[in-house]
Amino acid sequence: MGNYRARRIKGTLLLSSESPSIKKAASILQNGGLVAFPTETVYGLGASALDSSAVKKIFTAKGRPADNPLIVHLSAVEELESVAQNIPDQAYILAESFWPGPLSLVLERAPAVSPLVSAGLETVAVRMPDRSEALNLIKEAKLPVAAPSANLSGSPSPTTYKHVIDDLAGKIDAVIMSTPCAIGVESTVLDLTASRPAILRPGGLSKESLEKVLGMSIALSGKSHATHLPSSPGMKYRHYKPRIPLLLVTGSPPGRKKILRELAAYYGKRGKKAALLNFDLNQHTQRAGDIDEIASKLYYSLRYFDNKGYDLILAEETDQAGLGLAVMNRLAKAATRIIRILD
Ligand code: TXA
Ligand code: MG
Repeated sequence: MGNYRARRIKGTLLLSSESPSIKKAASILQNGGLVAFPTETVYGLGASALDSSAVKKIFTAKGRPADNPLIVHLSAVEELESVAQNIPDQAYILAESFWPGPLSLVLERAPAVSPLVSAGLETVAVRMPDRSEALNLIKEAKLPVAAPSANLSGSPSPTTYKHVIDDLAGKIDAVIMSTPCAIGVESTVLDLTASRPAILRPGGLSKESLEKVLGMSIALSGKSHATHLPSSPGMKYRHYKPRIPLLLVTGSPPGRKKILRELAAYYGKRGKKAALLNFDLNQHTQRAGDIDEIASKLYYSLRYFDNKGYDLILAEETDQAGLGLAVMNRLAKAATRIIRILD
């Protein structure tokens, strides 16, 4: 296996992304263990998708409800047939355009995949991540890897290996330590099993990009359009919550900015330390093109504010174009209260 050097925190092995360490991580997966690894979206917590007892450990480590299915990660498009069946042409067209990348496709599940991965559904979500450490790990393990975000269920997803250690040290076998995740929000989950493709969870690949390649408009599946909460099974749970309260202010820009300034002053006067998200007291417009940066820092900021003695977070609505749809979806779920300014 070659030599890898690693230390442990509470028994969890901290591995580098060098080849001997990746080989060690792959052997842990092959033996039914759990390895956290970076992807381009967030860090994932991986187990063999073919091994039910390994998959079960993911749910235990995260404290994840058993009816919330996992995404299976591949290292090549050709591996698709080993995890899915009756695959529509659209899947290949989309994989050709967007894999490796932040798009998970919901397809009919192949029998080899543990039913626990799908939480009882006949379908399976599949993606190929755009991060060399992840691809090398999957290739080396020669396994499809089931991996949810590597956080405790309910808390903001991890975009650094330190976030993974904060949440899961002592509960998982190993973590591959590398640089932060560039995109910062999870993959877009697209259902291809219905008569028309539908977005179950907005994410790191924009709706506009999908529509361009498919040549049709795509529905956002979900009951509550107003709160941007689509209906992927996972979407019904408490999610992405910082420990401190988060107030999300929405409405027209002048109205919401006025209220945010007033709220900041109100809490300031009472000696409360308010963190400002997507919002600068001295700046009257959000800079165009900033949404990718807002997305990449979103979970990092929520965890940072939690750990730096802030009392609450005041967050401003963002535009919903591009990754804005995913950012607003996460903020609506993270919010303790949504204040809608009507003017
Ligand atoms: O970017 C990502 O997708 C990250 C990285 C690690 O790849 N993974 C991730 O996994 O976000 P997780 O488990 O945190 O979120 C998976 C989402 C959930 O909302 C779940 O309900 C949905 O995908 N999902 C998984 N399988 C599904 C299926 N068969 N049908 C419908 N939704 C599914
Ligand atoms: Mg998650």
